[in-house]
Parts: sequence; structure tokens; C-alpha cells
Amino acid sequence: MRRLREEVGNINTAELKTLRAVYSLSKDYNYIPLTLIQNRIKGDVENITRSLAGKKMIQRRKKDYEGVRLTFKGLSVLALKTLSEMNVLSSIGSVVDTGKESVIYDGLSESGGEVIIKFHRVGATSFKKVKEKREYYAHSWIVLSSISAMREYRCLLKLSGVVNVPRPYGCAYNAVVMERIDGRELSKTFLEDPEFFLGEVLNQIKRMYRLGVVHGDLSEFNILIADDAPYIIDLPQYLNFSSPGGKELLERDVYLVLKHFRKKYGIELSLESALKYVRGENGRDNIWS
Ligand SMILES: Nc1ncnc2c1ncn2[C@@H]1O[C@H](COP(=O)(O)OP(=O)(O)O)[C@@H](O)[C@H]1O
Ligand SMILES: [Mg+2]
Repeated sequence: MRRLREEVGNINTAELKTLRAVYSLSKDYNYIPLTLIQNRIKGDVENITRSLAGKKMIQRRKKDYEGVRLTFKGLSVLALKTLSEMNVLSSIGSVVDTGKESVIYDGLSESGGEVIIKFHRVGATSFKKVKEKREYYAHSWIVLSSISAMREYRCLLKLSGVVNVPRPYGCAYNAVVMERIDGRELSKTFLEDPEFFLGEVLNQIKRMYRLGVVHGDLSEFNILIADDAPYIIDLPQYLNFSSPGGKELLERDVYLVLKHFRKKYGIELSLESALKYVRGENGRDNIWS
């Protein structure tokens, strides 16, 4: 584990202020003109941005005008620094997983608890391919990633205590800090007692439904199996059941869970009866009782 202070400590106050200014102008510009940043910063922006570019936290470009934009590293450093100031995080460990739209690290909270830091990077890969003339859109991965992190954090706050989800500890920019679940992905596990776990997964979906929440991307990859219970993760795309598409996405979530348990364990349960249970229409506490 590396102390956060060492990890992000080598950026000074002027550099931090510059990163924050670059972030806040990212909604309006792909490359932010240095002149605009200079209006917000006391120091010599030319030098500061050169130093930040050397640390790969921003990219500089001179085309029509001198401009800069944040890199994924720059955005993530901004997030770490802020989470450290918020007393949410004290150390960062190593990469646990790299997904299509996120990078997951382990770490330690201020109180020494094991946590997961999820850095969102929505659209970063696909936007790279966007042609020069459509470059206007290229900046938006920064905004989209921060929105995605905030959505996931809000959803965890809403579900925590009712549904088995990681406890949320904090959120800043593109990063969410949450409890580390000591478990493995359902996809990588062979269950001794699949009926029990299927029943428990449906129970969690039912609890989400009672709060009006549909996961929207549920499958064996977003369920972690701990010793005695399944945990639901990966919630940035959640939506309210009552919003357009909510009903269909709930059906798809349940369908994909049933499919996994049918294919891997031969458990037959109809989509209709599982949905009735989730919606509380058959009055049962457990799908099997
Ligand atoms: N709270 C957590 N505790 C333990 N492992 C986690 C946690 N959150 C994520 N992971 C691990 O990281 C992987 C990717 O996380 P996930 O939230 O599903 O992001 P992605 O959007 O990249 O799929 C998970 O499948 C799991 O193995
Ligand atoms: Mg996932």
C-alpha cells in the first residue's frame, strides 16, 4: 500500500488549483485555452501546465491556441487528493480489476478498513477514435465519468442497509470509495448450494424493487459471492422502475440471473414466477417456500 500523501503529494498547491480549473472548464472546451486558466490562477500557468504535462496529468496542444486537457491520470489524481482531504482514504494499493469503463484499486480508509476505489472512465476508449472534426465531443468522457461515479455513489447510499451492496464511503470526481467485499464474482465461483444463492439474489432484486430501483446491468459478473450471501455491485446505470424502460430492464436483469443458474446448475425457474416474487405478487418471503 502506498500512502496517499506520497502518491499525490508531489503536486503542489498551484498545480492542484490548475487541475481543478482545467476540470471545471472541461464542460465547455475540449482543450481549455491557457488564457482562461490564467484568469483563475495566480502563478505562471505556462510553467505549471508544462510541469503537469511532464507528470502526464494533462495534455497540452497548440493548434489555433495554447490549450490543455485532463488525462485519466490527472482526473484520478484530482479525485484521490480530494478524497484524502475529505478523510475518506489514506492509502491506495494495486489494481484489482480493469473493466471496459473502470479501473478498480484496493486501498485503506482513514480508519484502516479495506476499501475499493473505483475510477470511472466512461467513453474514454471509444472517444479516442472520434475523428478530429468531431473533437468537440472528446472532452465529455471527463464529465461522463464524474456523472457515472456520482450516480453509483448515490445508488449505493440509497440501497445500503437494505440491500447487500458495498457500504459507500465517499465520492469525488470520477472515483467512488466503497467497502471491499470479501468474495468472488458469481461467474468465477462454483456454488455448493446454488438454490440458496439464487433465492438470495432474487431476494436482493426484490429489495431493490421495493425501493424503486432497477440495477440495469445485472448478471453473474456483477454479483459477488461472500461466505454466506450474495452482494450486488456495479450500479452506475441503475434507474427507477417507473422511468421509461424500467420494466424491461428489470425483466432482463432477472432473465440473465435465471439463465446463469439454469445453464451452470440446471435450476429451472420460470421468468414469470421469479418476476412475480420480485414484485411481491405471490406473498412469499422466499422463492422456494
Ligand atoms: N466493492 C467491491 N469489493 C470487492 N471487489 C469489487 C468491488 N467492486 C468491484 N470489485 C471487483 O472489480 C470488478 C469490476 O467492478 P465493477 O463495479 O463491476 O466495474 P465494471 O464496470 O468495470 O464492471 C468486479 O467484478 C469485482 O471483481
Ligand atoms: Mg461489472
